[in-house]
Amino acid sequence: MFEEMGRTSQAVLVILCVLRTVKGFEMEIIPAKRIVAQIGDTVILTCNTTGCASPSFSWRTQMDSPLGGKVSNHRTHSTLTMNPVSVVNSRSYLCTVICNSAEKKRKEKSVKVEVYSFPSDPVIEISPSLVAGEPATVICKIPDVYPSDRLEVFLKKDGDGDHHVTDFSQDESTNTETKIVTYTFLPKAEDIGKKITCVARLLIADMDFEPKERTSSQKINANFGPQNTVITASPGNSPMEGDSLNLTCVTQSNPPAQIVWSKYLAEESIQHLIRNNVLSIPHVHFNYSGLYICEAINLVTNRTEKATVDIIIQGAPVITKLSIEPSTTVQEGENVSIQCSAESNPPPKIILRRKSDNAKVGPYSARSILLPSVMFQNGGDYECVAENKFGNSKSEITLNVTYAPKNTMITVIPTDALKEGETVTMKCTSSGNPAPLIFWKKKKASGEFEEISKNATFTIQNLKSQDLGLYECEAYNPVGKEKKAVKLYIQARLEEPDQMIPLIIAFSSVAAVAVPAVAILIYVSRQAKINGSYSLVKALRLKV
Ligand SMILES: *[C@@H]1O[C@H](CO)[C@@H](O)[C@H](O)[C@H]1NC(C)=O
Ligand SMILES: *[C@@H]1O[C@H](CO)[C@@H](O)[C@H](O)[C@H]1NC(C)=O
Ligand SMILES: *[C@@H]1O[C@H](CO)[C@@H](O)[C@H](O)[C@H]1NC(C)=O
Ligand SMILES: *[C@@H]1O[C@H](CO)[C@@H](O)[C@H](O)[C@H]1NC(C)=O
Ligand SMILES: *[C@@H]1O[C@H](CO)[C@@H](O)[C@H](O)[C@H]1NC(C)=O
Ligand SMILES: *[C@@H]1O[C@H](CO)[C@@H](O)[C@H](O)[C@H]1NC(C)=O
Ligand SMILES: *[C@@H]1O[C@H](CO)[C@@H](O)[C@H](O)[C@H]1NC(C)=O
Repeated sequence: MFEEMGRTSQAVLVILCVLRTVKGFEMEIIPAKRIVAQIGDTVILTCNTTGCASPSFSWRTQMDSPLGGKVSNHRTHSTLTMNPVSVVNSRSYLCTVICNSAEKKRKEKSVKVEVYSFPSDPVIEISPSLVAGEPATVICKIPDVYPSDRLEVFLKKDGDGDHHVTDFSQDESTNTETKIVTYTFLPKAEDIGKKITCVARLLIADMDFEPKERTSSQKINANFGPQNTVITASPGNSPMEGDSLNLTCVTQSNPPAQIVWSKYLAEESIQHLIRNNVLSIPHVHFNYSGLYICEAINLVTNRTEKATVDIIIQGAPVITKLSIEPSTTVQEGENVSIQCSAESNPPPKIILRRKSDNAKVGPYSARSILLPSVMFQNGGDYECVAENKFGNSKSEITLNVTYAPKNTMITVIPTDALKEGETVTMKCTSSGNPAPLIFWKKKKASGEFEEISKNATFTIQNLKSQDLGLYECEAYNPVGKEKKAVKLYIQARLEEPDQMIPLIIAFSSVAAVAVPAVAILIYVSRQAKINGSYSLVKALRLKV
């Protein structure tokens, strides 16, 4: 057991001896080769040792300028962190290690750090925006370059032989710089669409980084116009009423122009329509005639150009108005005017007339008829005809002239003498618009009137003395009324002794209830006697 332990100890010892002989005090810098770093990156240099229990590290640069980084020491290694790496780090770094426990106590190594900056592609700016025919400057900007004395910039336009090369070897670059190359030329319309290319090269052959060349290009987009602005009208400048009309505004402009359509109105104001290069009207009406304006606006060139077109809508007339003032129903005596208007192009001939008038009376070849103090006879259907070479249109309107009842008349049948027991018919007629309604009234003993019939014709059969009296006929309509009266009374008595038949004598006269009237006089007394003859009573002695 003891023996075994001894062997084991021996073996361990041998291994340790081997290790000690293989491994001396060594150091290295990682990375070992020179370092190429882009400004802004992070670079970490590690100084690593082997074979030393507690090495001490120190970092310095040639010329003993500041380190430009942060040192961090660990047991067997030390790091120098440059974050971010900058121009000041472009130098050789020396790491020195001292190991007290080793025979060869001191070791050092150096590594070279090289920096560059070429972070992004060139930026092409065309300033101001290219306008054909005006000199333009193209700028190629290469941001944050280092070292700029190695920069070469190459600017060219497609199709042009001349290359525009700029090198910056005269630069004394101490830090990153944004380099600018400008190129001035006179853009032509045909340059549009061609490319401007800017190639930047950082010519450091012995430095190992990518890319060393960066390229940008931009299409030439020369702004111009608007120019040669024209309007085309389809189907033409004089479309027919009801057609569709398209006005197209074409202009030359880059970038494309904004189009604004407007129209001059009669009162010199302007009506704004749409923003679109085609103004499309599905159905034109006469009122679409007028001057249309297309305004083309190029916001980049800050230029505006206008074009105008005069549109005349043609077609058969359309009657726009046929009216009666103050109204189609008026009372006699009002002042009436009848108006007709129509629109069309060519202008219409307008004829306004009453239909029932004899054509020979001559139509009113006017757009308006004035009827001062209108009569019933002026009423009727009026017709307006508007006509031009494309056709005509007609319209009608009725004038209704109302008036109060007039010419109210009473007719009594029979017209001569009546005898008691006979039949008498009283008829009342009247004119008026609307047609008057007629009714009959009779005066009662009390003096009041009593309605006795709603009929214009009133018949008394078997005439008796009670039927004597005053009868009144009244004609009325919404406009007014008129009355007439008739009186039945005894004119005379006649005796016929042999038969004792009473005779009735009729007489006609006029009574009035504020209006003239017709009267009939009747003899109605059975017992009355007139001595010996048919002669009329000298004086009318009314006994009713
Ligand atoms: C130092 O070197 C040893 C041996 O080559 C290696 O094992 C170790 O990882 C290194 N340390 C650093 C921090 O690089
Ligand atoms: C106008 O344009 C519309 C829509 O593009 C089309 O349908 C119509 O036929 C055109 N009219 C004319 C007269 O060109
Ligand atoms: C033109 O007349 C029509 C019909 O009379 C009407 O509807 C339309 O609003 C008018 N348009 C214009 C622009 O005056
Ligand atoms: C456009 O032109 C007008 C007058 O011509 C001027 O007042 C304005 O400043 C210009 N605008 C630009 C963006 O150039
Ligand atoms: C009709 O016109 C005449 C003359 O213009 C005028 O004197 C009269 O008062 C008018 N009558 C009515 C009812 O308006
Ligand atoms: C005329 O007008 C009156 C009153 O409004 C009406 O009663 C009558 O029917 C009209 N006549 C005609 C022919 O329209
Ligand atoms: C009017 O007279 C007609 C015929 O004489 C008669 O049929 C009708 O009933 C009368 N109307 C009135 C309201 O008395």
